[in-house]
Amino acid sequence: MSEFRTLRGMRDFLPDETGLLRSIEGKAREVARLYGYREVITPVLESYELLAAKAGEEVRTRMYAFKDLGGRMVALRPEFTASIARLVAVTLRNEPKPIRLYCIGSLYRYDEPQKGRFREFWQSNFELIGSDKAEADSEILLLTNRFMKAVGLKGYVFKVSHIGILRSIFGREGVAEDAQNRALQLMDKKMYNEALSLLRDAGASEKCLKTVKEIVEIKGSNVNSILAEIEKLIQDYEEAVYALKNLARILKLVEAHALNVTVDAGFARGLEYYTGMIFEVYVPELNIALAGGGRYDRLVELFGGEPTPAVGVAHGLDRIMLAVQEQNAPLETRKANAAALIATNETLAPEGIRIAEMLRSEGVPVEMEVMGRRVTKALEDADRRGAPYVVLVGEKELTENSVVLRDMHKKQQQVVKIEDLAKILKDLGI
Ligand code: HAM
Repeated sequence: MSEFRTLRGMRDFLPDETGLLRSIEGKAREVARLYGYREVITPVLESYELLAAKAGEEVRTRMYAFKDLGGRMVALRPEFTASIARLVAVTLRNEPKPIRLYCIGSLYRYDEPQKGRFREFWQSNFELIGSDKAEADSEILLLTNRFMKAVGLKGYVFKVSHIGILRSIFGREGVAEDAQNRALQLMDKKMYNEALSLLRDAGASEKCLKTVKEIVEIKGSNVNSILAEIEKLIQDYEEAVYALKNLARILKLVEAHALNVTVDAGFARGLEYYTGMIFEVYVPELNIALAGGGRYDRLVELFGGEPTPAVGVAHGLDRIMLAVQEQNAPLETRKANAAALIATNETLAPEGIRIAEMLRSEGVPVEMEVMGRRVTKALEDADRRGAPYVVLVGEKELTENSVVLRDMHKKQQQVVKIEDLAKILKDLGI
């Protein structure tokens, strides 16, 4: 046995898994088409500084970061949003707004591997750039809903909040941004007591701590009553009320579209760039988020661009794959349906290859026998691979410009003219 294994947290996708991933990707591309998002491809490797800027402690400390041969500090991307913001700040700065972009690819985080958590994982990532309106936020929610539905998932829930609610309260209390970030990181990990004591140390009043404690308790799917409860609690914080009103408007816009929403005002996200609505998507079978996103109105500017509001989402394709498997969602993966072709002896190989190439030119997939097996063994192998039809190239038939076509299910065979073979196979669904 070889000593070589994939690295911890990294994995190979075998053909069936690759088929499922590609099929999910296909649904993301279809969603992109329906909403007018255009694909971009950004580098896997970026400057460390760019990726670290607002990634948040959690992601920042888990980046695959190293010095390249030029002595420059670089890192494998842990997410797409920083790269897209860079693209908008630099290359697309004069592009008319809104800009709708999507990308699909692999990301890298040195996370502790466990179910649904890998060190190399895949996202489909959508960014809507240039609008600060609730309509833009609602579009990101709606396209995510459509995507989840398209892959066949059931019972998924949007956990939603607005980071402005907590940030405004902390800000009014004079809590410095750095301490705010750390408190939100702790809240993201549901370490509420630690967050509260950090806030106390950072100067938050007892009244504020009480408010935060109460906010954390409020969550539920009856959107209007939950929003009203939160509003009552935060009345004294004018900007927090403003944030809440923005969230209410976004949720109003998606109300008619059967999204399963839970408002959770104590919910925070690990990334630091969020300025508005934030959300994650969950299914009951897994306690990890399938997708996450939100509004980030200052990142493009931070990277040297014009002040540019933006909102986006990343769908975790590995976790969506897991959820699809857990729920047995009927997502069709394209199964290769190739005919097998066997030259009945070695001297007929050139003729066999010629016929195989002719069929492929006609768009018929053919798997050629290349193991030098005798006919019976080759037929057994074709059967094992599930080839529905086998083309047998034999001496006798060739003299009549024909081959034998064998139906592997019916175990019947017929002699057919080579010139008719492509059409016959196509009619048989190959
Ligand atoms: P995120 O919440 O860090 O957000 O990641 C989004 C999704 O990627 C997660 O919900 C999860 O499904 C998946 N994911 C994250 N880490 C892992 C992992 N180690 N293994 C497997 N899946 C993982 C972002 O990345 C933001 N850039 C989203 C965004 C776009 N915000 C605005 N625009």
